[in-house]
Amino acid sequence: MSDHHTIPAQERIVIIGAGNMATQLAIALDNAHCKIVQIYNRTLAAADALRRQLQQEVSITDYISEICHDATLYLFSVSDNALPGLIDKIQGNDALWIHTAGSMESEIFRDKTPHYGVLYPMQTVHKSRKTDWRGVPIFIEASDEQAGKRIEALATHISENVIRCDSAQRRAVHLAAVFACNFSNHMYAIAARLLEAQDISFDVMKLLIRETETKAEQMAPLDAQTGPAIRHDENVMKKHLALLEGTPEEELYRLISLDIERYGQNKNITNNQTKNL
Ligand SMILES: NC(=O)c1ccc[n+]([C@@H]2O[C@H](COP(=O)([O-])OP(=O)(O)OC[C@H]3O[C@@H](n4cnc5c(N)ncnc54)[C@H](OP(=O)(O)O)[C@@H]3O)[C@@H](O)[C@H]2O)c1
Repeated sequence: MSDHHTIPAQERIVIIGAGNMATQLAIALDNAHCKIVQIYNRTLAAADALRRQLQQEVSITDYISEICHDATLYLFSVSDNALPGLIDKIQGNDALWIHTAGSMESEIFRDKTPHYGVLYPMQTVHKSRKTDWRGVPIFIEASDEQAGKRIEALATHISENVIRCDSAQRRAVHLAAVFACNFSNHMYAIAARLLEAQDISFDVMKLLIRETETKAEQMAPLDAQTGPAIRHDENVMKKHLALLEGTPEEELYRLISLDIERYGQNKNITNNQTKNL
């Protein structure tokens, strides 16, 4: 085994949080035989549910004062809103402190420990669905080289696709992921509602969604765009807007259609410029 593979076996890890990400990361680390000594969570029942999914014996607590001080690594995976306040309440030490957020600074740990960083898995993760970590990009950032090596070693136990980045890159990746994943999924939710109102199952959308994904993987998303907005079919867009009249989706439809047209126009400008060169 290479040096960076041996490091996590020596880590004694405290998991802070027992939500979607904490659960799936803890299961992955447990499967990789990393030592988890404790799970802290505000709600004990969630920590207990997580503990029961692990193969090793792990203590749990819902008291911040009971978080053990002699661990080597503290993995925070809580709501981004709660993260700074929680860190504030935990006694500092010289262990490695890391969080899993795409858009939170690593410096929030600076007053607590000299060694800190970020392990941001760019995947949509839910407690109820076992995450397949193979190939999942994990973006890491560290306060110092030693911390970087330890975070890389830990991340390598979860996925082989570990990418070192800086804060600006991580923020951009997170923002892009919100558009590509969270917003796309919200569009599915809107589609499901529109169909439900006409007693049609969301199942009819599934092949369309799959083909949209496949196209985005195989060609530039900008080139893959179809639909009334990119064709400038104003008559059809008017009909759609009439169907949505007075609903929050009316404004959303207008904004997104305008943006699709804007992207289409910019694409033509770029293509023309390229042609002229
Ligand atoms: N899920 C994803 O797909 C995903 C992907 C990439 C990164 N992340 C990152 O992972 C982190 C956790 O996200 P998640 O999706 O796992 O969230 P989540 O499922 O909503 O879980 C939130 C966790 O934060 C705790 N929490 C919330 N408010 C708290 C407070 N005021 N004080 C103490 N603890 C509090 C919750 O405790 P209770 O059980 O007591 O409510 C729970 O353990 C975030 O930094 C997020 O950006 C998530």
